[in-house]
Amino acid sequence: MASLARELSAAAGAAFEAVGLEARFGEVRRSDKPELADFQCNGAMAAAKSAGRNPREIAVEIAAALKAHPLVLSAEVAGPGFINLRVSEAALSLRADAVRGDAMAGAEKAADAAVTVIDFGGANVAKPMHVGHLRSAVIGDTLQRMLRFAGDTVISDVHLGDWGLQMGHLVTELEDEQPGLVYFDAAFTGPYPKEAPVTIGDLGRLYPQASNKAKADEARNERSQKAVAEMQAGRAGYRALLRHFIEVSVEALKKDYGFLNVSFDLWKGESDVDDLIPGLVERFKAAGLAEKSDGAWIVRVAKESDKKEIPPVMLVNSRGGTGYHTTDLATILDRMENLSPKPERMLYVVDQRQALHFEQVYRAADMLGLIEESRLEHIGFGTVNGTDGKPFKTREGGVLRLADLQAMALEEADKKLVAANLPADMGAEERADVAKKVAVAALRFSDLMNTRTTNYVFDLERFTSFEGKTGPYLMYAAVRVKSVLRKAAEAGHAPGKVAVTEDTERALVLQLDGFGAALLGAREKRMPHILCEHLYSLAQAFSAFYAALPIAAEADAGNRASRLALADAVRHQLETGLGLLGIAVPERM
Ligand code: ARG
Repeated sequence: MASLARELSAAAGAAFEAVGLEARFGEVRRSDKPELADFQCNGAMAAAKSAGRNPREIAVEIAAALKAHPLVLSAEVAGPGFINLRVSEAALSLRADAVRGDAMAGAEKAADAAVTVIDFGGANVAKPMHVGHLRSAVIGDTLQRMLRFAGDTVISDVHLGDWGLQMGHLVTELEDEQPGLVYFDAAFTGPYPKEAPVTIGDLGRLYPQASNKAKADEARNERSQKAVAEMQAGRAGYRALLRHFIEVSVEALKKDYGFLNVSFDLWKGESDVDDLIPGLVERFKAAGLAEKSDGAWIVRVAKESDKKEIPPVMLVNSRGGTGYHTTDLATILDRMENLSPKPERMLYVVDQRQALHFEQVYRAADMLGLIEESRLEHIGFGTVNGTDGKPFKTREGGVLRLADLQAMALEEADKKLVAANLPADMGAEERADVAKKVAVAALRFSDLMNTRTTNYVFDLERFTSFEGKTGPYLMYAAVRVKSVLRKAAEAGHAPGKVAVTEDTERALVLQLDGFGAALLGAREKRMPHILCEHLYSLAQAFSAFYAALPIAAEADAGNRASRLALADAVRHQLETGLGLLGIAVPERM
């Protein structure tokens, strides 16, 4: 549904056009001086420059036209050509009613919706997930929710890392522990057992065990490399083990991601595109794009305009093996040829440090004609640091596992809930559910509220606080609105039509009006923090309204019904917006 800001922009745009200037100068924004105006339009200055005219003169013309608009109460020209707009109370009231009754809580669909693959998560089979994977999961899932809400057709894919050396480590280490398993008998013709020979606990033990040995002993490392090569070449027993490893890992990963409210449409991995690789390599060769170099096949992707050196893509290495470049290219091929509907864009939510990798892959994909480079986007993000400013580690020095993180967040959330005085009749089950919601809100929001590309400091104590810019604060704000509405309903007071009269009500509706722009801005830039900022400001505007005016306790029935409706509009938008961040709001806490 169109916001006031958009309707005013359209009106101002038409006014600019009527005097022979471009409509884009009519962009109207929320005013940064609420005591002077609700909205402002600064386009007269730029328009004047392009037309060689006096900006104030233009502004006066536009303001005169805007005064006649039904939404507009006043339009004044200030300074060199700023136009300050006030909208009528009737317009604000109608807008609040509309937000309250709107399925999108006042937001609108994107005009350029597209079929979009979002590649995120990217956990590696058998290797523990670390906080970097947490960022990918949380940012990727939020983008998936926001884009779907805005009308994009999203296909999300976890793209597991399941084709690397770690698979060789697992196979060989398992062979040392249980040499009698049929998987190691090269003469065995199957069928292989359905039951996995390992648990997730085994995988978590076998991998570091092997990887430590391999680091100290080159021969041990080569054994793992040979095993991967044999697996990639199709050795049946190893393939059967690979499927078991993936199955066992996926089951555990679904729990980890599930805790964070993160979900995927596709649980594919690098190994799924293995059979596409020979054909892909042939296509590069046939197109004259692959070149033999020191026994390897490479694709040169550097451009003359490059400011830094972009090394070639490694298609097939000198040992005949294929790696990360090739599986990513084969995955693009797979998506373009086998997904329906056909993707128009692909977003890769992966650590900023992999930027060069994606640059190379995107160029090669474009050269082969799979998809244009501009439709492939690397959504990079910064690292999570400890309070010492270095990449976050546990006290023991290892990367933090997601499972430990969950336990820590739950413990901290429960502590904070107890300190905040839980309702006396809250049972153990409800308390555990609320603590879980607080923990997830804390983890997700503290990641999303930062500009994606910057690093941030991991501080669970602060993240779980009910004060400041935190997930629990926003969740608590939404719970408070709900409880106001519930208590009013119990007293027999229902929301009615909004009739804005007070300053804090005006400010609150203006804030509600900005939801659509925040959503579309966050979507366009792939920056969830823009939506976080909006929701935080909305919670603050509600607080100011709540502190200034009685709601359920208001004596005048008309005012009371209006304020309850306004509170309900806030509840609706807060819950909708937090839902897009993957944050659920309990009934009470
Ligand atoms: N498994 C990779 C890692 O842990 C991330 C995968 C990202 N996605 C991709 N298509 N390369 O670094």
